[in-house]
Amino acid sequence: KREAGKIEVAEPRNKLPRPAPSLPTDPALYSGPFPFYRRPSELGCFSLDAQRQYHGDARALRYYSPPPTNGQSPNFDLRDGYPDRYQPRDEEVQERLDHLLRWLLEHRGQLEGGPGWLAGAIVTWRGHLTKLLTTPYERQEGWQLAASRFQGTLYLSEVETPAARVQRLTRPPLLRELMYMGYKFEQYMCADKPGVSPDPSGEVNTNVAFCSVLRSHLGNHPLLFSGEVDCTDPQAPSTQPPTCYVELKTSKEMHSPGQWKSFYRFRTGVDRMRTLHKLLKWWAQSFLPGVPNVVAGFRNPEGFVCSLKTFPTMEMFEYVRNDRDGWNPSVCMNFCAAFLSFAQNTVVQDDPRLVYLFSWEPGGPVTVSEHRDAPHAFLPPWYVEAVTQ
Ligand code: A3P
Ligand code: MG
Ligand code: MG
Repeated sequence: KREAGKIEVAEPRNKLPRPAPSLPTDPALYSGPFPFYRRPSELGCFSLDAQRQYHGDARALRYYSPPPTNGQSPNFDLRDGYPDRYQPRDEEVQERLDHLLRWLLEHRGQLEGGPGWLAGAIVTWRGHLTKLLTTPYERQEGWQLAASRFQGTLYLSEVETPAARVQRLTRPPLLRELMYMGYKFEQYMCADKPGVSPDPSGEVNTNVAFCSVLRSHLGNHPLLFSGEVDCTDPQAPSTQPPTCYVELKTSKEMHSPGQWKSFYRFRTGVDRMRTLHKLLKWWAQSFLPGVPNVVAGFRNPEGFVCSLKTFPTMEMFEYVRNDRDGWNPSVCMNFCAAFLSFAQNTVVQDDPRLVYLFSWEPGGPVTVSEHRDAPHAFLPPWYVEAVTQ
């Protein structure tokens, strides 16, 4: 039925279909100067317990407690307790932004920057931003990010790609054990209280997590994101989060850590590329939340960590600065800013049930498709209803 008084505009006869918008990811396109990135500040935190239940406090925060430096090298058996003392998180459960939204619901009245700040912000997980940062250099794994606008705010939530799902469901036993070993290393390096020695006799339960909620700004994009933090260093020069936080990593022992630099200069081939890539991921993950140090444990082929090395986040780029196969932080940040602008311009309708799905596969541009409701809508009714009041 035609509405009275409504003017109908005829379509021009020669109108061409509008090309679907897309965003290229070639590093060469993003090599300008480093963009503005506001020093991240912590707005709050939350914890997930052994049953993956949310608590609006720091109960899951652990304390950095490295072995004494008395000349002896560590000897951490990362395979100890596998699989009998391992409680892995159920990866079939898609939590999307839920825990972060719960924190936001409980704190949105007290956000610095006033009530209008959130309406202009982008809300997401740190891990999703890490994937954006590394995209120009990624050659293996694609990603999908679902985006919805609601009361002005742009929410970004990752969707597991079909390929990633297949990989997860067919993960070889050795890779499962390797995942365990990363968490086991944390248990050797952290204590539940400050000034206490770690107790590696218990279970490794990967449901447990401490998450920091941070505020920052990239280019003209206000950001609110949350990321899991491995531990805090009670001896850090500043006790103020996030500068007291420490990220823990394990890595294959290739050379003694003292020869790390020469490794970069002289080694060639696949191992070297892998290591460059790993360092990029470490940098992206810790730079975003302002975590100043990554402590690496180097494991030998038997799965023992016999050496440790601290990598200051702000010095990681120095290892690759003069390398033609290296990565450039400016490219990462400029691409991320360009993607956020692309998303802001694409997601125009304010509707929590409408989802724009951004998809990327290595070698191609970022493309976008539109979806309504299940299965892609990710803002839960309890959140939408509480905020709509
Ligand atoms: P590593 O630190 O040795 O990589 P994080 O380092 O982010 O705190 O994660 C802790 C551990 O979780 C990792 O140890 C690794 O074992 C596991 N892990 C994290 N992300 C992973 C991924 N995408 N695939 C496989 N394992 C992962
Ligand atoms: Mg972690
Ligand atoms: Mg870690």
